[in-house]
Amino acid sequence: MSIRPLSLACSELVLYHFLNACTLASLIALSHTSFFFRTMVKTLHRIRLCAVVEQFVGRENVHRFFEVLEVTDSAVGGSTLLRVLTPPTSPSGYDWMPSNLNIYVPLGNISPWNAFFAEIKLDISSRQPGIAFPYKSVTNSHTQYYSRVSAHLILLSESINASVITPAVAASTTLAMCIATCSTTVVLYPELVDRGRAHSGWNSPTVAACIKLQDRDFRHSVSTISWKDACGWNCPVLWRRVQCLRGVGVFCWGGIDNKMRDNGSVGIPFTDVSMKWRLDDKCWNVNCPWSAVRSVA
Ligand SMILES: *[C@@H]1O[C@H](CO)[C@@H](O)[C@H](O)[C@H]1NC(C)=O
Ligand SMILES: *[C@@H]1O[C@H](CO)[C@@H](O)[C@H](O)[C@H]1NC(C)=O
Repeated sequence: MSIRPLSLACSELVLYHFLNACTLASLIALSHTSFFFRTMVKTLHRIRLCAVVEQFVGRENVHRFFEVLEVTDSAVGGSTLLRVLTPPTSPSGYDWMPSNLNIYVPLGNISPWNAFFAEIKLDISSRQPGIAFPYKSVTNSHTQYYSRVSAHLILLSESINASVITPAVAASTTLAMCIATCSTTVVLYPELVDRGRAHSGWNSPTVAACIKLQDRDFRHSVSTISWKDACGWNCPVLWRRVQCLRGVGVFCWGGIDNKMRDNGSVGIPFTDVSMKWRLDDKCWNVNCPWSAVRSVA
């Protein structure tokens, strides 16, 4: 952690606790105000991400983990990342930890990961992960490892192509549609993350996953029927198009040593990212101009 000294009579620790309670939108807005805040927000992101990774691979292997993440152009993804993107839910400071670590790997880059897990003596789980159908269509292979915490697994999902955003789009809820590469975090529905709202993706989450979301203060909905305000850009019927990563939340967190270039890749260079998707063909939110209910009435 290298932070420039403050001339104000306010310790960095106090500031850190303040930032820790902020929403993602506030953090990003603050990070744009000054070099100092940018450094602080990057530090917060780094501390949270390392704390999550450390739990699965052990503190002594965190650096190596991010090196493998970099050389393979992979990304940490899914609901694992929510712990990094959202403020703690419990005022005591003790908070939930993700129950598994999802890693998205570009096609053909799995072997350095297998070598890394062998090196740190984590075993492959013989149990086949249950993979929902839409997710199967954007992933090529799945390998599960036991982590340092026996009940918590590490799931390597190999994308069908070079982009690690591809598997993220097939997550079971909008909350899990996010990835963190060795230097950059990409969030497809940042507003919904801040509202604690999870809309179903192409496949619905399992009952167990819904209960877990609720325990962590997120609300899941299969449709927009219960939304009390207009959906805006989060409307499930809208086609989302991501070209060169415009149109989604992007935060360059600078990597574990804060030296990573800000223009990393997500498996492929930013300029080559091109995805188009939508979540549903009907919207049931009466407050939304695209609502199916409204057009029938
Ligand atoms: C990143 O930026 C550097 C210098 O700004 C440039 O030389 C390099 O090509 C960029 N890399 C990518 C992947 O865009
Ligand atoms: C990967 O596949 C997805 C889904 O078919 C597609 O939208 C995306 O453009 C592809 N990316 C690359 C780099 O081929």
